[in-house]
Amino acid sequence: MSNPSLLILPGDGIGPEVMAQVTRVIDWFGAKRDLPFDVETDLVGGAAYDKHGTPLHDDTMARALEVDAVLLGAVGGPKYDELDFSLKPERGLLRLRKEMDLFSNLRPAQCFDALADFSSLKKEVVAGLDIMIVRELTSGVYFGEPRGIFEEGNERVGINTQRYTESEIERVARSAFELAMRRDKRLCSMEKANVMESGVLWREVVTRVAADYPEVELSHMYADNGAMQLVRAPKQFDVIVTDNLFGDVLSDCAAMLTGSLGMLPSASLGAPMANGRPKALYEPVHGSAPDITGQGKANPIACILSFAMALRYSFDQGDEAARLEAAIESVLAGGARTADLMGPEGGTPMSTTEMGDAILAALDASL
Ligand code: IPM
Ligand code: MG
Repeated sequence: MSNPSLLILPGDGIGPEVMAQVTRVIDWFGAKRDLPFDVETDLVGGAAYDKHGTPLHDDTMARALEVDAVLLGAVGGPKYDELDFSLKPERGLLRLRKEMDLFSNLRPAQCFDALADFSSLKKEVVAGLDIMIVRELTSGVYFGEPRGIFEEGNERVGINTQRYTESEIERVARSAFELAMRRDKRLCSMEKANVMESGVLWREVVTRVAADYPEVELSHMYADNGAMQLVRAPKQFDVIVTDNLFGDVLSDCAAMLTGSLGMLPSASLGAPMANGRPKALYEPVHGSAPDITGQGKANPIACILSFAMALRYSFDQGDEAARLEAAIESVLAGGARTADLMGPEGGTPMSTTEMGDAILAALDASL
């Protein structure tokens, strides 16, 4: 049998810097855990635009559909601000999500004990936090038609359309219930059924799917209240399921609960492929961070944790994923800090590579 295949798309900004550390971790699993991967690397976002004049080349798209999993760094940068919408780096990422049909986006927000002091919230509010946001990723206002900027009388009007079919709601709801079954069996669905028909339908479909998961305790919340509850008492949640736009906003909010956006991974999953593995793309929640690009300062942990999610969700290697997560936890407990994790007490931050070194050393120690 051939090795599982990975397509690595480092992208823009700090993407290549953090991905370089992930590559070292992948090599470690090949050498030390007999888990070799066939890895190929390609361009996405601004990097692809610079070379090909498009944020995602068709050949790259085709490879993404063939490999077992895609790992992506980050896309975007101020250099591309003036580009037409269809050429912006973000379009490369949106095309991958859409054409791979990655409808279920898992964004865990976990607070590592060693970092509970770094949150802008009180330590007792976030210590031990472990929630999972499931964001619908291929529909809603991000993709709905009509969209555009149109002339209307003597002025222009900007239009985007929130649109959800029952089957789109149902499949993401199912993936959230399945996850809840493997966790604390509590699911909170968030929409704006008080003002949006798409929200009314969302609530109805989620409630219908719940009948298949009698063990899961389902609740509903308006998304604005959800945002407030996330910062008021985040530990009340286990799994949250929500649409594309609310999920984008709520997941950034949840991310900050954990102290740094540099810590949070994500998995975007679609339907199973012929080999039984889901179509999958793994990426950190953080962006390309142009302000610190090229300085060796970026925190590689979110991207490395994204590879841990790949081990768990694509390759059925939950124990090895847990090994990697434990290695990161021990490194943090030992005081390792990149610049984004410097507390008020100060100190000298580690570089991206030094954090990679520390994680590899902790992996070695785990054997
Ligand atoms: C995210 C990002 C993307 C989004 C951008 C880069 C298109 O904010 O993954 O959360 O809005 O989905
Ligand atoms: Mg976002």
